[in-house]
Amino acid sequence: MRPEADLVARTALALAPRLHQESVDVFLTLGSGLSSVADRIEDPVDIPMAALPNVAVSTVPGHTGTLRFGTIAGQRVLAQLGRVHLYEGHEPQDVTRMVSVAAWLGASTFVVTNAAGGLEPSWSPGDLMVLEDHLNLTGATPLIGVLRDEAPVFLDMAGAYDPELRAIAHRVADMQDVELRDGVYAGLVGPAYETPAEVRMLRTLGAQAVGMSTVLEVIAARAHGMRVLGFSSITNVHGEGVSTSHEEVIEVGGQAARRLAGIVLGVLEEI
Ligand code: HPA
Repeated sequence: MRPEADLVARTALALAPRLHQESVDVFLTLGSGLSSVADRIEDPVDIPMAALPNVAVSTVPGHTGTLRFGTIAGQRVLAQLGRVHLYEGHEPQDVTRMVSVAAWLGASTFVVTNAAGGLEPSWSPGDLMVLEDHLNLTGATPLIGVLRDEAPVFLDMAGAYDPELRAIAHRVADMQDVELRDGVYAGLVGPAYETPAEVRMLRTLGAQAVGMSTVLEVIAARAHGMRVLGFSSITNVHGEGVSTSHEEVIEVGGQAARRLAGIVLGVLEEI
């Protein structure tokens, strides 16, 4: 098997001509129901992810499997509409490959979005949260077997979610009169939604939101030295006798996407 760095370089070299050999400033990953954020990209070029080597394409409804390159507020943005997940049967490095490809192409900022379940009873579907931190409860990492200078990558994860970018996000949300919550995102494998006992456990652990993505991507981004800004669209809120469906996740995600797009756009104008 080829080492991950080799796979990443081959994918990046296949993608570069589609981007007119331009470098990337910001990599943006859009989760379930959130692809309309990419409508804000100017002079867009769409690239089907299936056209690239070593890139897995999602089988999940609501994840389109397209890359869109263009500009937002003068920054060159590469957006991934739809991601792959561990629960689709992919390896951790398949899940994070596009993050690494974007870093290879020059991206120094990673804006990651997801649909998530709320764990705070006072929250409502449609709320937006900026990630303060995460709990990686997947039992996986993209750094297994990865060596740097022939040593394992002992990565510092303190401050992984850039405090300055979070502060900018809050300022922008205030200016747009959009409520932006703060919280810790718990990343689980899924695809089963959480049992009531798991919901109680996650609250005890200090999480405000739960989802099935993001944590591995953020680890990879930090390993590449990227600054990370993360948002959750809270599509459902766990509570007594509340059940969860993917249809609800997609529908509510779509409604929140417009507000989230406004915040992302505002942040990119400020950085
Ligand atoms: N749990 C896990 N993942 C999710 C949820 C949830 O409640 N909602 C959206 N993605």
